[in-house]
Amino acid sequence: MSLTDESVQTLPAATAEADRPALSRHYLMCRPEHFTVVYRINPWMHPHIPTDTALALAQWQTLYDTYERLDHTLELIDPIQGLPDMVYSANGGFTLDGKAYTAKFTYPERQAEGPAYGEWFRERGFEVHEAREINEGEGDFLLVGDAILAGTGFRTSIESHAELARVFDREVVTLRLVDDRFYHLDTAIAVLDPEGADANIAYLPEAFDEASRTELERRYPDAIEVSADDAQWLGLNSISDGRNVIIAEKAKGFEASLRERGYTPVGLDLSELLRGGGGVKCCTLELRIAR
Ligand code: ARG
Repeated sequence: MSLTDESVQTLPAATAEADRPALSRHYLMCRPEHFTVVYRINPWMHPHIPTDTALALAQWQTLYDTYERLDHTLELIDPIQGLPDMVYSANGGFTLDGKAYTAKFTYPERQAEGPAYGEWFRERGFEVHEAREINEGEGDFLLVGDAILAGTGFRTSIESHAELARVFDREVVTLRLVDDRFYHLDTAIAVLDPEGADANIAYLPEAFDEASRTELERRYPDAIEVSADDAQWLGLNSISDGRNVIIAEKAKGFEASLRERGYTPVGLDLSELLRGGGGVKCCTLELRIAR
């Protein structure tokens, strides 16, 4: 078979790509020095299978380096021995307009993380609002445009949604999760463009009850619907700067959809951290210092 000129011709680059500006962000992370799986609070965790902390550290470092390369500002909180899930900093609280709403964890195994992250916010000058209600921070609260999408069903209580609305004076949209593999909102929704009127998301429809699905369709008619095949690698657990979207490298379908829409997907292997039930987004807490 001979190649004709036509078959080797390169296609023009997706035009939309040039239109998507990347915004530099500020993130808080926690090195997985004490990472292991010794209890089971989600279906991904298997305490009888040994973990490799060195591998978790190396994979986490690739995420850190990727953020540095993309010009984001990074902060670190000291890991605490005996809190193996502390690497999932997304659960450490929710910040917006220079205020921090603290996490109050569902399970006793993680409860000491709440005050540790709260202390960090205080030292950094955030106006700290101590949560009275159970909530797992940015694991279940996602800022999209001017609204905060708030998950419930497995961890974060519905009462905390009202508390969150009072603290930040924003619209809070309650969404109910129904599949225990996708127990936090950030495992079922990816925020692609956090800012602006045309803020968009990607999500796994079957992770939600019917009322929540209807609400998501109404709000985001242009959303990317991701398949269970991609979600099973926690593909949706991703971080976008509006242009570059850091995802699990195995989420190939999601990667293709992102490319079609003019985003630049960046695939990473965080397989060791997936054994705790977390991915890219879980290891990243956004710090929104002022408006
Ligand atoms: N093992 C942790 C837990 O079950 C994983 C947390 C993942 N974090 C997230 N933002 N989804 O709580």
